[in-house]
Amino acid sequence: MERTYIMLKPDAIKRKLVGKIISRIEEKGYIITDAKMMQLDEAILKEHYAHLADKPFFHSIVEYMVSGPVLAMIVEGENAVLGMRKIMGATKFEDAEAGTIRGDYAFNTQENLIHGSDSVENAEIEIKRFFHK
Ligand code: CDP
Ligand code: MG
Repeated sequence: MERTYIMLKPDAIKRKLVGKIISRIEEKGYIITDAKMMQLDEAILKEHYAHLADKPFFHSIVEYMVSGPVLAMIVEGENAVLGMRKIMGATKFEDAEAGTIRGDYAFNTQENLIHGSDSVENAEIEIKRFFHK
């Protein structure tokens, strides 16, 4: 079984969309094998978003991601990494197709509700980063 790191971002919690988003993950057939609410700090976000460190919006992402708790999860299933990216939808809210989580609920690219690992290799790194396992 493949596993991926999924994180419901602060806007998903503030907008009370956690139940709806989790339903989509479960309805697809994936299993949530671990979950915890976390208040992230700048240090872990600088690691997690290191690939964006030189972008003008980097500081703004960090500020948004520490603005409230996130729900960190390990999601398992066949092809879970790419499959979750599909049901999440595109990063830019205007590109996210209807029927995807971002396409149906996000109206802003920064506050786009959900994180999902973009490769099997990164999934393992991110699971270690947030769950130490
Ligand atoms: O989250 P995803 O893997 O789809 O995209 P990313 O390129 O790894 O960017 C991480 C996060 O940075 C996004 O999910 C957005 O919250 C934010 N971002 C942004 O605010 N503006 C952009 N042009 C690109 C990303
Ligand atoms: Mg990414």
